Amino acid sequence: MEIVDKIKKLKKEKNVVILVHNYQIPEVQDIADFMGDSLGLSRKAAETEADIIIFCGVYFMAETAKILSPEKKVIIPEKDAGCPMADMITAEQLMELKAKHPQAKVLTYVNSPAEVKAESDLCCTSANSVKVVEKAFGKDDQIIFVPDKFLGQYTASQTKRDFIIWQGYCPTHARIMPKDIIKQKETYPEAKVMVHPECRPETIALADEVLSTSGMIKFAKKTAAKEIIVGTEPGMVYPLKKEVPNKEFYPAKEEAVCPNMKKTNLEKVLWALEDLSYEVKIDKEIIQKGQKSIQAMLDLS
Ligand code: 13P
Ligand code: SF4
Repeated sequence: MEIVDKIKKLKKEKNVVILVHNYQIPEVQDIADFMGDSLGLSRKAAETEADIIIFCGVYFMAETAKILSPEKKVIIPEKDAGCPMADMITAEQLMELKAKHPQAKVLTYVNSPAEVKAESDLCCTSANSVKVVEKAFGKDDQIIFVPDKFLGQYTASQTKRDFIIWQGYCPTHARIMPKDIIKQKETYPEAKVMVHPECRPETIALADEVLSTSGMIKFAKKTAAKEIIVGTEPGMVYPLKKEVPNKEFYPAKEEAVCPNMKKTNLEKVLWALEDLSYEVKIDKEIIQKGQKSIQAMLDLS
C-alpha cells in the first residue's frame, strides 16, 4: 500500500501518465491510468497531455509511444522487457526482402523494432490488421508482412490478398495447441472460445472469435455466453474478470506465460518514477519515418 501511495503522489507531482498492457501483473494493472491492447495504448500515447509516459509492457510498445510522442519522455521500468517475436526481424533483413520484391508494399505488425517500422509503408496491430489491409491495399497489391507468420497467415486468409510472409512468431502463443482448446472445451462444453491471432492456424481454426486483447474484453461484455475459454497469455484473465465480473474465464493454457510481460512490478514502477529511467531513446530520422507508418495505421482504424 505504501508503494502504491508513493506512486500516486509522484505521478501527480511529475505529471506522468502510466500506460499498462493487458498482460501485466495484477498489481501493475491496478495502478494504470490507461490499460489496453497495442492499438489502444498507441492512441493514448499519441493524445496524452502528460509530460512523461511510463510504459508497463514490452520494449516495442514503449518505442511506439516514443515515436508517437517524441517530445515527451517515455520511460520503461524494466529495460530488459523485450519481445522475442519483435527481435525476429531486423531493418537489414526487411531491406533485403524489399529488394527482392520491389513492387510489394510493406505491412508491419507493431510487434517489431522501430528501425523496421521506419522501413515500412504501414503498420497494423492484432486489432486492425484485416481492416488496415482492406482499406489500404487493392486486390492486386502484393504485401510483405513482418514479423509474425501466424498473424500474417490469418490476415491473408481474411483478406484474400497476395502475402509474402516473414517466418517470425510469438513463442508464448505458439504454445497454445489445438489439444489445449479441445481439453478445455470438454471440461466446459458451454464455453465460447476466443483466441489471439498470434496463435497457430490449427488453434485459430477451433475458435469462435479471433481477437486482440482489448477485443476480448469487448466481446466478453457483449456475448450471451457465461463462460469463455481464453486463448492467449493467461494474464488476460485478470482484466477480463475485473471488467466482466459476472462471467467465468478459463485460460486455454496456464503455461503460455510471456516472461517479459511479467518483469515489471510495483517496485520497478516506483523506481522509474523516482529516477525517470530507463528512458527510451530513438534516432530522429527513425522517429520521423516510423511516425508515418504508425500514423497511417491510426488514420485508417
Ligand atoms: P494486443 O495488441 O492484442 O494486446 O497484443 C499484443 C501482444 O503482444 C500479444 O502477444
Ligand atoms: Fe511478444 Fe508474444 Fe510476449 Fe506478446 S506475448 S510480448 S508477442 S512474446
